[in-house]
Amino acid sequence: MAVDSSALKRAAAARALDFVQDGMKLGLGTGTTADAFLDVLAPRVRGGLTVTGAATSERTAIKARTLGIPVAPLEQLAPLDLTVDGADETDRALNLIKGGGGALLREKIVANSSKRMVVVCDGTKLVERLGRFPLPVEVTEFGHAVTARGLAECAGDLGYGHAPITLRLSEGAPYKTDGGNVIYDCAFGPIRNAATLAVTLKAITGVVEHGLFIGLATTLVVAHAPEDIEIVERKSHAEL
Ligand code: A5P
Repeated sequence: MAVDSSALKRAAAARALDFVQDGMKLGLGTGTTADAFLDVLAPRVRGGLTVTGAATSERTAIKARTLGIPVAPLEQLAPLDLTVDGADETDRALNLIKGGGGALLREKIVANSSKRMVVVCDGTKLVERLGRFPLPVEVTEFGHAVTARGLAECAGDLGYGHAPITLRLSEGAPYKTDGGNVIYDCAFGPIRNAATLAVTLKAITGVVEHGLFIGLATTLVVAHAPEDIEIVERKSHAEL
């Protein structure tokens, strides 16, 4: 029987509530799974839980306020106690690909400002090796086609061949992020060394940020089935 992915997202989101404590300053992620977390958080807030959120996108800020979850600028709240966000892919070392929803830059800033990052997802997002999902790379609108050539060169230099590098569109026009930038989705295929790729991409002039989140997530809440929730904690360096 096909598993209802929204039920899995809700199950993971509900389990993530266990990590929330009264008085916390929370990073609020973007995407359908992060939305599911807002949906389960809101009744708790109505019931008296005191939290304040820093949103990773305009649409998350609107949804949180609509649900009655207080939101404040990151600058006022940082450091955050906890961020709860989704992912497009994760491996068991808690390296992530994010940005399918276009919010990767703010998501990374918020995650970097958090003491703990809990990633909520359904089991389809858990992969042996990152790279099935094309890596989103946010670049400045100015000269973006030139920056894309730099992305293609990077792919060649690192042995990813002629990886398809595609400008993301929305209704026929370049998709714009909340920051006014554009996104290239880079189908590198299986990513052999995420850390090297991350550093190389970041060094390309015109690249604002990429969707590789390495060493940021601390806990993974993955719903394989509504009653089968797996928790994976990131190993400390001493354990690796
Ligand atoms: C937003 O930019 C993304 O990073 C999302 O967090 C990610 O794409 C997961 O989204 P879903 O929960 O909708 O799959």
